[in-house]
Parts: sequence; structure tokens; C-alpha cells
Amino acid sequence: MGDERSMYALFDYLRNSDPVARVEHPEYRPFWALTRYDDVRSIGSQNDSFLSAPRTVLIPSAFEEALLAQFGTSNGLETLIHMDRPKHLKMRKVTREWFLPRSIEKLRLEVEALSKEFVDRMQEMGDECDFVKDIALLFPLRIILSILGLPREAEETMLRLTQEMFGGQDPELQRGDSETAGLEVLNEFGAYFAEVIEDRKRNPRDDLATVLANAEVDGEPMNMLDQASYFIITASAGHDTTSAAIGGGMKALLEHPDQWTLWRDNPALDDSAAREVIRWVSPVRHMVRTATEDTELHGKVIRAGDHVALWYPAANRDPEVFEQPNRLDLQRDPKTQLAFGYGSHMCLGQHLAALELRCFFRELLPRLQQMEFAGDPEWIKAIFVGGLRSMPVRYRLS
Ligand code: HEM
Repeated sequence: MGDERSMYALFDYLRNSDPVARVEHPEYRPFWALTRYDDVRSIGSQNDSFLSAPRTVLIPSAFEEALLAQFGTSNGLETLIHMDRPKHLKMRKVTREWFLPRSIEKLRLEVEALSKEFVDRMQEMGDECDFVKDIALLFPLRIILSILGLPREAEETMLRLTQEMFGGQDPELQRGDSETAGLEVLNEFGAYFAEVIEDRKRNPRDDLATVLANAEVDGEPMNMLDQASYFIITASAGHDTTSAAIGGGMKALLEHPDQWTLWRDNPALDDSAAREVIRWVSPVRHMVRTATEDTELHGKVIRAGDHVALWYPAANRDPEVFEQPNRLDLQRDPKTQLAFGYGSHMCLGQHLAALELRCFFRELLPRLQQMEFAGDPEWIKAIFVGGLRSMPVRYRLS
């Protein structure tokens, strides 16, 4: 899936004419595509009838087979997003407290300081930069490393690994061509975090790594594999998604100058504006669920064992729910949007993501005298977490 225009044209077509569409594609095992808001929300929250575990995201069949051979599951990993009850609830509980709004609010000063650091960096770069490569990709990465308690030197490794992991379909971001390259990425991620966990057991600190290293589940220490998987999901889910929201958000503001000035002049809008930008970008394109029982939906029968893909960008532009869905409207009700999913897997990091956007744009917008595109934005070819690869801009900052 590449640029946003063709993606939304396809979603509009499906939502209108075939909201429960059977997809048979040469590269992927068959699945049903859901594109209406009510269906995505409803199926996404029926966590016992539509499971996450057997098939969590769309992965090319050849890669699924390689994962099955090495790990015994076609997901490869077993992180929060791959789990179902009862394990999912127990594992989520380990960090639930840490991600609550009141805990996240404690990070505000740090996120504000990093926002300033990155806007200063833009200023130091003069009057042109690649907003995606120079800013949007690196700011959330720095924050996630900081909350995990990893040093700045880890930045390069983490950036490469998350891009290789999520840039699945993009030749520029892939590691080589072979199906086994994906396995290498997973193994490298795991090995890196295993070292950090060992260190935090010996030297506890005030960071998420320490929470994970010393966590107990059912009265037993969390096992190494679960710890490494937790790291992987936090580091990866918290990085590319937020980068995509900041990059796509800046593009949206350039295209909606009235909303840019509205946000700049109204700090009271910070939270709803951040969440509208996240609706607009919907960086997580889909999650897959597997039916445990036959279900009829809009005249189609989804059989037990069938897979359904929940397309969040499609749901978030459903005109039945959002008036003028293709207009960025920073005063919309921020609670309606579905970019963070719905149900028991709803994004654990949503308050952190919103805080990052709020702080970053609150720092940038009042200082930004002018900005325009200095080249065509380019999109990553990705079916899971999508966003911009590059967006050259010209600007004046104070
Ligand atoms: C889960 C989106 C940022 C951590 C999810 C899910 C979505 C999502 C759609 C639900 C998966 C499902 O229903 O199966 C986003 C978007 C973000 C974002 C759009 C940014 C704009 C973050 C951040 C973090 C994070 C900053 C943490 C540091 C997680 C975790 C889960 C998750 C750990 C798994 C929760 C579970 O399965 O119980 N996210 N996310 N996310 N997200 Fe986010």
C-alpha cells in the first residue's frame, strides 16, 4: 500500500460497495476486509469471538512459513498484540499502571524538553530539512529509548531494526530480499533486549526496562522470552506509529492552513488536535482477528477459523460517523476516532502518543513563521504501519 490518495480511494470503494470483502491475493492467505467504522469497532472489541493470536497482522505466506518453522507460530513473536485471554490480561497488567494518563503526565517535562531540542535542531539546520527523516522519525525514537531507559547510542540500532521490522513491503527498508531476513531482524531485536534485561536485574533504575526485568506474572518471574517480546512491542509500537503521526500531521497542517493557525493560537485544543491528527494519519493500517464462531455480517458469512482484517484508516474516514471525513477538523470529538483500536487490545501507549504530538506541535507551531513543501512527499510501501518516507520542507523558524 503506497500513497494515501489511492489507499483512501480503495477504502471508499470497499466501504460503499463491499464492506465485508473477501480478499484472495497471491501473496497472502485469504481474509475478509472490513472497512466500515461500526464493524471495525464492534469486531475489534469482541475479543473472545475474534482472536488476536492465530494471525495478528497480514504477513506474506512465504514469510509466515519461515516463522512457523523457526518459532512454531506464524506470528513469530508472542507480544501483547499477539495474545488472547487469559494471558493477555495478565501480561498487560504488568505495565498498565505505567501507561495510565496520570503516570504519562509525569513525563511531560521531559517530552517538552525533547520537543524543544528537536525544534531547535530544525532551526540549526537553516531553512530546509527533510521533516520526516530529520525530525519525525527521530523525536519519538528518542522518547521511547528514554522511557525504556536505553542510551542515545542505541538510537541507530533501534531505528534500523524498527524500520526493517515494519517496512516489510518496502524494498528500501527491507534487509535483503530473502524470507529469512525477517527472522534475522527478530533475532537481533531479541538479543539486544536480553542484554538490557540482564543489566536491569543487577542494576535497577527508574525506567520501563526495570519494570519489565523484575516483573512477576502469577507469582513467578516473567520469563526471558516474554520480557524480550514486551520490549520489542513497546519499542516498535511506540516508535514508527508516532513518527508517522507527526510526519503525516505536519503534511496535513500544510494542506489545511486554517487548522494550522487555529491550533497555533489555541493551546486549549492541544489534546483534541493531537487526536484528530492521529485519526487523519491512522498509522496502523490494520490488525487481523480470527473468528471462533460463524458470524453473519452484511449478508456474508464469516466462518469459524476465517480471518478478518480491520482497516483503521477506512473506519476513520467513514462518512456515517465523521462529518466531512476528508477534512482535518481539530475541533472534532477526539474520543470517536479508532486509530488506537478498540476493545481489550486498545493501544497501551495512546496517552504517550497524544502527549508527544501535543508537546511537539505546541513547541513548533508558535515558532514556525512559514513552511512549504520543497519537494514531493514520498510514502513507505507498507501494509501494517504506514506513513511518509520523506517530506522535504522549506521554512522560517524563530
Ligand atoms: C496497541 C495504534 C502509539 C504501544 C495498539 C493498537 C493500535 C495501536 C491500533 C491495537 C492493536 C489491536 O487492537 O490489536 C497506535 C498508534 C500510535 C501508537 C496509531 C501512535 C499514533 C503507541 C505508543 C506506544 C504503543 C507511543 C508505547 C510506547 C502499544 C502496545 C500495544 C499497542 C504495547 C499492544 C496492546 C495490547 O495488545 O494489549 N496501538 N499506537 N503504541 N500499542 Fe499503540
